[in-house]
Amino acid sequence: MTVTNETQLKVSHLHMAFGGVEALWDVSFEVKKGEIFSIIGPNGAGKTVLLNCINGLYRPQQGQILFEGRDISRSRPYQRARLGISRTFQKIELFKGTTVLDNIRLGRHIHLRTGLLSGAVYFGKTAREEIEHREFIEREIIDLLEIEHIRDKVVGMLPYGLQKRVELARALALNPKLFFWMSLSQASTWKRSRIWLDLFWTSMKRNAGRRPASWLNMIWVSSWIFPTG
Ligand SMILES: Nc1ncnc2c1ncn2[C@@H]1O[C@H](COP(=O)(O)OP(=O)(O)OP(=O)(O)O)[C@@H](O)[C@H]1O
Ligand SMILES: [Mg+2]
Repeated sequence: MTVTNETQLKVSHLHMAFGGVEALWDVSFEVKKGEIFSIIGPNGAGKTVLLNCINGLYRPQQGQILFEGRDISRSRPYQRARLGISRTFQKIELFKGTTVLDNIRLGRHIHLRTGLLSGAVYFGKTAREEIEHREFIEREIIDLLEIEHIRDKVVGMLPYGLQKRVELARALALNPKLFFWMSLSQASTWKRSRIWLDLFWTSMKRNAGRRPASWLNMIWVSSWIFPTG
């Protein structure tokens, strides 16, 4: 897959302070379409704060964020998600009491077009729409991430690595254009990181094939460069 010259995300002069703590000070960078971009810094450097500003969870005191040329600095998190910005979390954030499939479906809800009433009746268009979404999840997510064997399992009962995979599945169910991956802790080995990277690479290629007009970019957020093991 080729990296284009077109800018997908442009962050300019971001400032964010919590009282006397300057978490972000004049942060600027650009991500091109088709690019895998890394944000690396030691603990407390401001990576999570930066990501929260781009996702809209935090409102920076200064600066601008452009996504595909559009100013999203003041958009709400769900509006940014609708534009195709998706993420995982540093500490896994899933609905632990529900099944893997239900968690993945939640990532897809943003694409539902039918209203409350037709949804309640579950008829015609609503039923068709649900079938389409189910097929997308089966084909593009469950298959790709090889999680068929746990699809009906309750998330809270799964080991950490599989939960992280479910979180990735939910983020990809949004069919994102820009995807933030919060790396596992330092304890994660290089070999394991390679497995994740291979997975992203496959997803990106698949996504580019399906939607040539748009791209899945990945921003890898991590506190280390040279993991051991
Ligand atoms: N909600 C908050 N209120 C007050 N201070 C905060 C808040 N969030 C972050 N900070 C501070 O901002 C700074 C940057 O924190 P941040 O969590 O972004 O670091 P990080 O790079 O993600 O670190 P790590 O690698 O440990 O995840 C830290 O000094 C942190 O204490
Ligand atoms: Mg962090």
